Amino acid sequence: MAAVGVALLSVMLLSGCGGDQSILDPRGSGAQRVATLWWIMLALGTSVFLAVIGLLFYGMFRRGASRDDDGSAPSDTTLIVAGGVIMPVIIIAGLFGLTLWTMTARSASDDALTIEVTGYQFWWDVRYPDQNVRTANEIHIPVGQPVQIRVLADDVIHSFWVPQLDGKIDMIPGKVNVQWIEANEPGIYRGQCAEFCGIQHANMAFHVVASPPDEFEAWVANQQQLARQPSTSVQQRGRDLIVTGGCAACHAIRGTQAVDETGPDLTHVASREWLAAGTIPNNRGNLAGWIADPQHIKPGNLMPALPLGPEELLDLVAYLESLE
Ligand code: CUA
Repeated sequence: MAAVGVALLSVMLLSGCGGDQSILDPRGSGAQRVATLWWIMLALGTSVFLAVIGLLFYGMFRRGASRDDDGSAPSDTTLIVAGGVIMPVIIIAGLFGLTLWTMTARSASDDALTIEVTGYQFWWDVRYPDQNVRTANEIHIPVGQPVQIRVLADDVIHSFWVPQLDGKIDMIPGKVNVQWIEANEPGIYRGQCAEFCGIQHANMAFHVVASPPDEFEAWVANQQQLARQPSTSVQQRGRDLIVTGGCAACHAIRGTQAVDETGPDLTHVASREWLAAGTIPNNRGNLAGWIADPQHIKPGNLMPALPLGPEELLDLVAYLESLE
């Protein structure tokens, strides 16, 4: 019975160790260092715990044992100084040094790709200053290269964290912080805001898409293009609605008269896998649902529902879906 209990407890505890946001499943050199530090801390903590429990039992069964002639136990002081002062100082100093090394060791280079990420309630503005690219909630990087992420925030404090790629860093209004990320293998890695920032903090996610350099370059080349021209009359009506309706008050679509940068850039919105900062997959149904009633999907976000008729909604969706 006890064995079954231990087994069940182990399954429950260890089931939290996998998944696509686990620091124990690192896919980059920085995340690997964080995971190594975690395992060392676990081993040290376990050793100290077992030693203390062992000493506890030793003390319990030692009661009544023979003492020195004068009744004292001269070795106690040595044990207390060694176990209570010297050992902790050595362990904590060692861990402190190892933590500093984990935080600072990285293969940074001056000509590394630089990406600027700004946190907003509750989404991520993503810019590639050298490539003249602006997107949202999705960061593309070439695999096998350290990438510099310069983070800031517009409203409140957020925190940038891709657990499988490296440690986390706070995004503070008015201050630029730098975090490096690197992916060892192609894949899609989920990132999460790691500082409580309001009612939709939990739904403030993003994805890092790591691909081979040639695929990354192709992505950049596509993102640099202006928005595609409407190819049908439905798409044409959708574009007119964006420019003349409420969308252009907050969103930019490069190549049109919608130029406001308050909200996410929509120039290539159809190329993104997710909507509403990692909240819902980007497909026709979700896109229409999101535009029709954003507050239902993500209560408290800053996007208002616009008074659109069903035909207008379909026109709008048809145009946005064409923006690959
Ligand atoms: Cu942004 Cu939590």
